[in-house]
Amino acid sequence: MLFAVLLLLTVIVVCIFLQPTLKTNWVQYETCLTDHSNLGNSLDIANFTKNTRLFLTLEDAWWKPQGKATHELPYGVKGTEKFMVKILARIQYHMPENIHSRTQSIGLAVCALLLRLNDAPVRGYEKDVGSKTTIRLFYPESAVVDPSIENTPDTLLVFLLFKPADARWLMETLYNEKRLRKGFWKAPPLLWHGDPTKTRVLNPYYPHQAATKLLHVPLNVPPKSKKKIVHPTTGFIAVTVALNYCDEVHIAGFGYPLNQNNFPIHYYSKTTMKEMANSGHNVTHEHLFLRKLAAAGAIKYLVL
Ligand SMILES: *[C@@H]1O[C@H](CO)[C@@H](O)[C@H](O)[C@H]1NC(C)=O
Ligand SMILES: *[C@@H]1O[C@H](CO)[C@@H](O)[C@H](O)[C@H]1NC(C)=O
Repeated sequence: MLFAVLLLLTVIVVCIFLQPTLKTNWVQYETCLTDHSNLGNSLDIANFTKNTRLFLTLEDAWWKPQGKATHELPYGVKGTEKFMVKILARIQYHMPENIHSRTQSIGLAVCALLLRLNDAPVRGYEKDVGSKTTIRLFYPESAVVDPSIENTPDTLLVFLLFKPADARWLMETLYNEKRLRKGFWKAPPLLWHGDPTKTRVLNPYYPHQAATKLLHVPLNVPPKSKKKIVHPTTGFIAVTVALNYCDEVHIAGFGYPLNQNNFPIHYYSKTTMKEMANSGHNVTHEHLFLRKLAAAGAIKYLVL
């Protein structure tokens, strides 16, 4: 059975809002790139348009042009619509006022939105990027039973659904139905104590944009081919979200130890580059792309 093996990806994305409104378009980065070099052309991002609707709603139509979903998870909801309808009936999809209003009035250089990924701990690492978490982006295998331990009470718990089993697990967990345990690369928790009013599902727009506009990886492989599908990592998808939502993006913990196969890739776990080789991601490819974004001034590395 084909499903992405998602070994976590790291860390923290800090967005800094520089402008009172979110009108900045990616195209402007491209324009300013041409001032330094022709990197903009090689990045092929001229048609990257910003979308600030972070969360999946029942009304979202981009993935169903004729009322039909065209892509499967993580790029759309085809085949999982019945789970999604039940999930969305239980959770929320608006951006809370306190986050939204900060984007309106923040002024310069105040850290406005802090995204953290998967089960990356905060306690004990405050010196790197503080203790706040605006958004925690994760999927069932990287969920923790009690999200209140490493998050704050107003942290938004945002699910990134990679595969049908993820949507099914979330539906079963929200409705306390019998959990089917098949289809995961690692058992997700049996219980999950997240507050449904703080729970969201990431709009599949972002994985889709990450794959098609940024990384240029195929959305699927021919059914009988031996090629393995490569999905963007949670970390790369978080960067994509931040590029859409924020005027300035700082990242921390993305310093992959390329060429050092036995080095841990995260600050908090022992997973190595070698173990990532079969993860269903192409970390090298992402790393090279992040470096290009940094060279273009679109992102900044805070801590490697
Ligand atoms: C942008 O979109 C237009 C219209 O779809 C297309 O003609 C053009 O080639 C695209 N440019 C890039 C760089 O993808
Ligand atoms: C991973 O990305 C690198 C750099 O873009 C590329 O050379 C390599 O072929 C990719 N590997 C796979 C398995 O897609």
